[in-house]
Amino acid sequence: MTRLDGYSALVTGGGKGIGRAVVDRFVAEGARVGVLVRSEGDAAELTAAHGDAVAPVVGDVRNWADNQAAVAEVLARFGTLDVLVPNAGVYDFSDPFESIAGEDMADRYRQLFDVNVLGYLLAVRAALDALRASKGAVVFTLSSSSFYSGGGGALYVSSKHALVGTVKQLAYELAPDDIRVNAVAPGGTRTGLGGLPGDNRALDAVSGFEEMVARNVPLGFLSEPEDHASLYVTLASREESRFVTAEIIRSDGGIEVRGKRRKAKETS
Ligand SMILES: NC(=O)c1ccc[n+]([C@@H]2O[C@H](COP(=O)([O-])OP(=O)(O)OC[C@H]3O[C@@H](n4cnc5c(N)ncnc54)[C@H](O)[C@@H]3O)[C@@H](O)[C@H]2O)c1
Repeated sequence: MTRLDGYSALVTGGGKGIGRAVVDRFVAEGARVGVLVRSEGDAAELTAAHGDAVAPVVGDVRNWADNQAAVAEVLARFGTLDVLVPNAGVYDFSDPFESIAGEDMADRYRQLFDVNVLGYLLAVRAALDALRASKGAVVFTLSSSSFYSGGGGALYVSSKHALVGTVKQLAYELAPDDIRVNAVAPGGTRTGLGGLPGDNRALDAVSGFEEMVARNVPLGFLSEPEDHASLYVTLASREESRFVTAEIIRSDGGIEVRGKRRKAKETS
């Protein structure tokens, strides 16, 4: 018996990184998964890995019609939509606030918020009727930057904090429809998370990133995308979390209790 037998899902930004790990895990747990991806290459890789269990749609989360198309594809291929995972995101690489010229602020803000916040709102709006019909669940990808400063710049941290409010408000509004709205908040994870248009940096190429994360979390290592995937399954599953909504599960190595490193246990 697998944990998501008979479920169908949609994951945005599921071609790479954390989203891809969620797709892989959902399929392993028996689900069929629509995936909104940015490139034909990502779509081809998903199909090569999972065949008919996935339904990739190439599109842009900032675009209403692309979100609608992804939902329509899931319904056409799999009949229902039980779980939505808004996940696609971009990063600001912790650029200092003052490095953004005043005249560039509005553009940079829109570029980042359009993906990280608007993209989530559009995905939920597009999936709403289908989730109501299935009494389904939404599982957002949030971040340790939804709670703490220092893991991103002002734009990224603001966008991820904004999504905490989105989880709460949607959980409140959609509870009467029996739609649960929860989130997983990963900490530092080894992915190629990218930046705004024209910025070719990637998180996994930032020098010292792994050591920085390892130094700053009590558990002392950089996580892999797969480390978070089971938590999405728990929040997706009616059987495992029927009474859970407006919850945000942190998967961040214990950032909240970081501080002076405790003495390592003596080994004999
Ligand atoms: N990597 C980390 O340390 C970390 C930590 C906490 C939270 N997150 C969050 O996890 C989520 C996934 O990021 P990741 O780290 O796996 O990076 P990633 O780059 O591997 O995944 C992000 C995905 O979003 C897609 N994407 C970006 N803009 C898009 C758009 N306009 N339309 C459609 N797809 C788009 C990318 O193509 C990519 O597949 C993001 O929301 C990110 O903020 C990442």
